[in-house]
Amino acid sequence: MGSDYRIVVLLSGSGTTLQSIIDSHLPATISAVISNKADVMGLSRAQEAAIPTHVLDHTAYSSREAFDRDLQTLIDQYQPHLVVLAGFMRILSDNFVDHYYGKLINIHPSLLPKYKGMHTHQRVMDAGEPLHGSSVHFVNSELDSGPVLLQARLPILPGDSPESLELRIKTKEHLIYPTVINWLAEGRITLKGEEVYMDGKKMTGPVVMDYM
Ligand code: GAR
Repeated sequence: MGSDYRIVVLLSGSGTTLQSIIDSHLPATISAVISNKADVMGLSRAQEAAIPTHVLDHTAYSSREAFDRDLQTLIDQYQPHLVVLAGFMRILSDNFVDHYYGKLINIHPSLLPKYKGMHTHQRVMDAGEPLHGSSVHFVNSELDSGPVLLQARLPILPGDSPESLELRIKTKEHLIYPTVINWLAEGRITLKGEEVYMDGKKMTGPVVMDYM
């Protein structure tokens, strides 16, 4: 890496998403990786790539707001152009989201606006959906909302289980998230209110990559 475009990645777990960003060799520098949980694989992956890491344990805080304030202070030490949520399993307070609006992105394993929240793979299977996927979006103050930039869409196959579906979706997430970070690092995306412009043209919906 070694570019002037700085990103900070937040995670809570295994960090396969972080790994995909590292391995994509984007025109961006991962300035830091921050986890709310100690001893997760995501931190080891960062250390392996010589990226500074921090653990901010949310259980040490009495309120979400207090945790988010310290998180914000920590992030801002790196003056990032972009904050990337990569399996960061925390609901963020409004002040935090407002502070980073337009500079905060998330990947959520569903075809948003469908299936916000947890256990998406199980829920789409229970509902008998033919299609599932994952969405990269700007974060706003509503859970799993905010303008969607790119989606990977794939069929649910006979014999799929929530676990097999999750694995298949993750392989596509590892393509679409670096793609969006690349767009942002190259300055191709601008956000005006809730409207997204790509290469100066207003987007009427997300770009969809079909893996049928
Ligand atoms: C990813 O599948 C991502 O879509 C999901 O967490 C996983 C993180 O995997 N995010 C959410 O569910 C956010 N609501 P990882 O820890 O291996 O990177």
